[in-house]
Amino acid sequence: MPREIQKIIVMGLGYIGLPTASMLATKGHQVLGVDVNETAVNIINSGRIHIVEPDLDILVRSAVNSGNLRAALLPEEGDTFILAVPTPFKEENGNLKAPDLSYVQAATRAIAPFLREGNLVILESTSPVGTTEVVEQIILDLRPELAGKVHCAHCPERVLPGQILRELVDNDRIIGGTSKAALAKARTLYKTFCNGAILETDSRTAELSKLVENSFRDVNIAFANELSLICDRLGVNVWETIALANRHPRVNILQPGPGVGGHCIAVDPWFIVSSAPAEARLIRTAREVNDAKPHWVLEKVRAKAQRFRDPIIGCLGLTFKANIDDMRESPSMDIVQRLRESQIGTVLACDPNVASDKVPFPLFELKDVLKQADILLLLVDHTEFTEIDPQMIKDKVVIDTKGVLR
Ligand SMILES: NC(=O)c1ccc[n+]([C@@H]2O[C@H](COP(=O)([O-])OP(=O)(O)OC[C@H]3O[C@@H](n4cnc5c(N)ncnc54)[C@H](O)[C@@H]3O)[C@@H](O)[C@H]2O)c1
Repeated sequence: MPREIQKIIVMGLGYIGLPTASMLATKGHQVLGVDVNETAVNIINSGRIHIVEPDLDILVRSAVNSGNLRAALLPEEGDTFILAVPTPFKEENGNLKAPDLSYVQAATRAIAPFLREGNLVILESTSPVGTTEVVEQIILDLRPELAGKVHCAHCPERVLPGQILRELVDNDRIIGGTSKAALAKARTLYKTFCNGAILETDSRTAELSKLVENSFRDVNIAFANELSLICDRLGVNVWETIALANRHPRVNILQPGPGVGGHCIAVDPWFIVSSAPAEARLIRTAREVNDAKPHWVLEKVRAKAQRFRDPIIGCLGLTFKANIDDMRESPSMDIVQRLRESQIGTVLACDPNVASDKVPFPLFELKDVLKQADILLLLVDHTEFTEIDPQMIKDKVVIDTKGVLR
């Protein structure tokens, strides 16, 4: 039990807000989760969940049954307010992608009337540098009498979907305060459920460190994706090349793929590029290299298809990575949709993790795709695909973007 039981308002009950809210509730805090999605609010209040995450249903049920977690459409007064709303990007100036802070701004405006002296406001959403200060300014514009009396901090979330509950507890936690009081209050709160180290800094450094983590991954994947193009041009096996190079004690090249997806790695680097466009040349190029890979894959299929009259193209995988159901920013989904529009051939898509009502085209069973396809395009290394019997596909043209059908 925490030494000090708080009333905590969590704004946004998605992949981050709901696990955080229920974790805090099971530690004894009184938690009100707020979401603009009425269906989600009703589902959560009945002790169930509206998203897919292992064991989250058990945690939410126990939090709701204990009486410590409620969901609602509007906030109330409390001690701490956590903002866990989306921070997507929007197109700006042609192809430069800029952060869309409208959800953060709306959530901040929604809590402003309920703030009191001594409250802590924590921005957990992944945000461009300066956003915590923007949150503070919105509050002060609406409630000038609270100047110096409400504390703001940025505590970025770095959990991995599929392992959110474990990582919420075990990961180290960066806390960026706009004041010493904000740091102290945030530390006390996270200590109630976080076993990892609490790392204190200012809000701008905290914001940038989260963006830098995902940009590091993006740049390194771009290197692997560029290698895959170079190897293809030179007739060299990229997987073998990387495996051999990685035997060097200080080399660790990542694996190429059909592109980069998901709502973090494919999005967050743009937040750095848009705030420092002249300096962030490598980060921007990495984004462009990764974003160009789906087109390259498509052209590869087009070239291979020329030897058939009306080829059947079996596409294996739609999600942005293996063994999940998430298709946000998925390059595989992009490739399949573009293939369907291209009229290169008949497309049979297959993904054992995706429900048929989640996509605007028919899905096929793996065995049927393997039987019918002339060209087999592997886009995601789901376990089911890595176990395909090589004998079954030995007569097919195989384009393997993940290197698992070797
Ligand atoms: N999902 C992840 O794995 C992950 C990991 C690290 C960081 N993040 C970051 O965390 C933030 C939240 O991501 P998520 O995956 O939980 O998003 P999500 O889309 O799953 O959930 C966000 C929720 O906020 C609600 N919402 C929108 N506007 C609102 C408002 N004004 N008031 C109250 N609720 C509102 C939405 O209805 C939705 O339920 C983002 O900035 C994201 O980049 C996510």
